This record gives sequence, structure tokens and C-alpha cells, in this order.
Amino acid sequence: MTQEHLLEARGLTVRYGGIEAVNALDIYVDPGETVVVVGANGAGKSTIMNAIMGLVRVHAGTLTFSGKDITRASAASRAQQGVRISPEGRRVFANLTVEENLLAGGYTMKSDERAESVAWLFDNFPFLASRRRAKAGTLSGGQQQLVAIGRALTSRPKLLLLDEPFLGLSPVAIATTSEAITLVQEQGTAVLISEQMARPALKLAQRGYVLRSGRLRRSGEVATIRDFALSEDYL
Ligand SMILES: Nc1ncnc2c1ncn2[C@@H]1O[C@H](COP(=O)(O)OP(=O)(O)O)[C@@H](O)[C@H]1O
Ligand SMILES: [Mg+2]
Repeated sequence: MTQEHLLEARGLTVRYGGIEAVNALDIYVDPGETVVVVGANGAGKSTIMNAIMGLVRVHAGTLTFSGKDITRASAASRAQQGVRISPEGRRVFANLTVEENLLAGGYTMKSDERAESVAWLFDNFPFLASRRRAKAGTLSGGQQQLVAIGRALTSRPKLLLLDEPFLGLSPVAIATTSEAITLVQEQGTAVLISEQMARPALKLAQRGYVLRSGRLRRSGEVATIRDFALSEDYL
């Protein structure tokens, strides 16, 4: 038997009514690996992320996580198994504090483990500690991105899905977010990042896929797809 991928999508196809948003994609992520999905607006990036998280229905194909078929599993079950998402547009709970957002990310955990996890986040992300009592809605976009990543990390996932984490961020916030992602990588967590603006994501990833109109156009080591991926920036 070949070595098992952490996540494997085979023939992944998602439709919205008559529209085929992603078509027969083969994608995998290995344990501890960072992989980027690059594509223009409407290419199908969020659809892939949401299909992996269980937020949209898979029309055809299969999703396997840690050797288990999760194609029809609920989002809650996938979360329990170790998949988490920081969604496009971040979508933190604006009326909750930073700390409450982080605790919310650990809703499936025992309370002592959850408290331990949030303490770890405060130790490792000083910004989160310094603003723990601030309402998340009062923070800047880059700061909210850190909250969204932190919230996804509370449960110590095996696979973190980041849907356009750099979208609309300033260069400084892109750098801060990149550092946070590096820390996630150091924990051994696998990361799947989608981006239209490929440059910062390519710096973090080992491997990537270039998506156009719901189909894979290129895949491979970052060094081999970099030029092609960057040319997509301007489509
Ligand atoms: N809820 C939806 N209903 C109908 N079409 C959708 C829906 N969400 C996305 N689409 C379409 O699916 C395609 C892929 O969208 P999306 O996955 O959001 O792309 P990306 O994240 O790369 O911008 C686009 O053509 C988009 O218009
Ligand atoms: Mg999107």
C-alpha cells in the first residue's frame, strides 16, 4: 500500500445548481505539509475549501482524511476529526471578545483542554493576549485574521484551511499573518492556503496547485509552478 495522505480529494466535483464550480480535481495534502491553491476570482478556491470542511455538498468524487472517507461527513464531524477553517473574509464573531472567539473555536473540547489551548495561543501570539478583552469587531482586518487563525487553532487541528488569508491586508499585516502561519507549521500542522495574490502564500508553501475555471492547470513543487502561479495574479 502506498503512503497515506492526510487529505486526499479524488475527482472532486462541486456544482451550484447548473454551474460546475470545481471539476474532477485530484488534490492531496500530506501531514505537516503546506500546500497552496492559486487561482483568480471565481476559479473555485472557496468551493474547494468549503467542500473539504463539509460546508458545501460534493457532487462527485471522494474526500479522504486520515484514511477515512469523509465525503458525506458533517462539518462538525470533520472538525472533530481535526479539520478547521479560517474562512474567506475572516468572519470572526464581531461582538465577542478575542478570548471568547478563541474559546468558541474549541467548542468540541473538554473545558480544561480548551483553557490550556487558549493559554498556549496567548503565550505564542502576544497580540491575542494583549487584546484578549477587545471586541473582535473593533480590530483591523489583519488583527481579525490573527483571531480567525487563532480560533481555528484552539482545537489543535491536523489540517488548517486558510481561505484567502491575505485578501485586503496591508503589507505589514501580510507579514504578521505569515509569521503566524509559520508558527502553525512549526507545530506540525498541515496547512492548505488558497490565494489569488500568490506571492506571500508561495513563500510559505512547499507545493501548490494552479486552478482556472474550476480545473487544475498546474501542480507540483513551488519551485516548478512559481512562474505560472504568479502569471495568474494578473488574469
Ligand atoms: N453559492 C453559490 N451559488 C452559485 N454559484 C456560486 C456560489 N458560490 C460560488 N459560485 C460560483 O462558483 C464559482 C467558484 O466560486 P468560488 O469557489 O467562490 O471561487 P473563488 O473562491 O476562487 O473566488 C464561481 O463561478 C462562482 O460564481
Ligand atoms: Mg473565494
